[in-house]
Amino acid sequence: MLFPSFFLLTLLCSARALPYRRDVLFSQATRVTALSQAQITDLKPFTFLAAAAYCPPEKVASWKCGVACSSITGFTPTLTGGDGDAVQFFFVGHWDTQKAIVISHEGTDPIQLKSVLTDIEVTKKPLNSTLFPGVPNGVEVHDGFSDQHAKTADQIFAEVTRLLNQTGFKKVITVGHSLGGALAQLQALSLRLNLPSDVAISSTTYGTPRVGNSDYASFFDSKVVDFRRVNHRNDLIPVVPGRFLGFTHPKGEVHLLSDTEVNICPGNDDDSDAACQIQAVPNILEGNALDHLGPYDGIFLGTPFCA
Ligand SMILES: *[C@@H]1O[C@H](CO)[C@@H](O)[C@H](O)[C@H]1NC(C)=O
Ligand SMILES: *[C@@H]1O[C@H](CO)[C@@H](O)[C@H](O)[C@H]1NC(C)=O
Repeated sequence: MLFPSFFLLTLLCSARALPYRRDVLFSQATRVTALSQAQITDLKPFTFLAAAAYCPPEKVASWKCGVACSSITGFTPTLTGGDGDAVQFFFVGHWDTQKAIVISHEGTDPIQLKSVLTDIEVTKKPLNSTLFPGVPNGVEVHDGFSDQHAKTADQIFAEVTRLLNQTGFKKVITVGHSLGGALAQLQALSLRLNLPSDVAISSTTYGTPRVGNSDYASFFDSKVVDFRRVNHRNDLIPVVPGRFLGFTHPKGEVHLLSDTEVNICPGNDDDSDAACQIQAVPNILEGNALDHLGPYDGIFLGTPFCA
């Protein structure tokens, strides 16, 4: 049963690839540009916020989690949770120097994540229309990601609205690495669909796997404009689940070649430039799991690096 549907999917995808490619070749919008040193430095606080989510909630609650916490000044965590197992660690708080509410989600062991996401039987499903009001038909995401997001969505939404009300801030930032990046992406979309339009949503993710299908990517692109999807060198997690399984990334790729060489890749998942992830890692055999951990401009992300 599996083989024929898989085969059909491959056929469908290659048939659809033709107009897509022509687009890439002739569109000015797909030109890769380099990030300035100032823009690279601007990413750093978001990387530390993603790093802090790997630290135990009791340390994060007092904002004493080593360099990740001490690097972010003016931040007060107000909600921490998760068990690092069935529910990834997460925290919410207000970042007064940026006049923003922050949500950060922990990632998971990349080897385990890779094995889940390279499973040929990986399944997608529509988004919950209570958490994602107005989501069009045809939008589907990885069921593991949407299930994990749903576990903490109501609790986090209540805290975010409470903090927006308390502080009067008009901005929410979501961050995360790995599985946490996928959760930050879903969180950003859900908040955009549930919060008033005068509240800005900004999302920065690291080493993020593909979350949903191409309808999902287009919908996300249309709703969450302030989005950066940072990936590092030959990390293989950003290329799973495979495009042949019907998964596509939203726009917003920022590809790190080194600490000082960083490119903005404007396509969804189709950049023809060697400086972008999809060319650096055409298939998982050419990827490197260690690159998943970083360094992202000197910062490693993962449980072992919470110090
Ligand atoms: C959708 O999400 C809402 C809010 O979390 C929840 O109450 C409801 O049970 C969910 N529906 C399904 C079908 O999972
Ligand atoms: C906060 O909530 C209270 C009670 O619902 C409301 O009266 C007030 O206007 C809200 N404040 C802001 C800044 O949204």
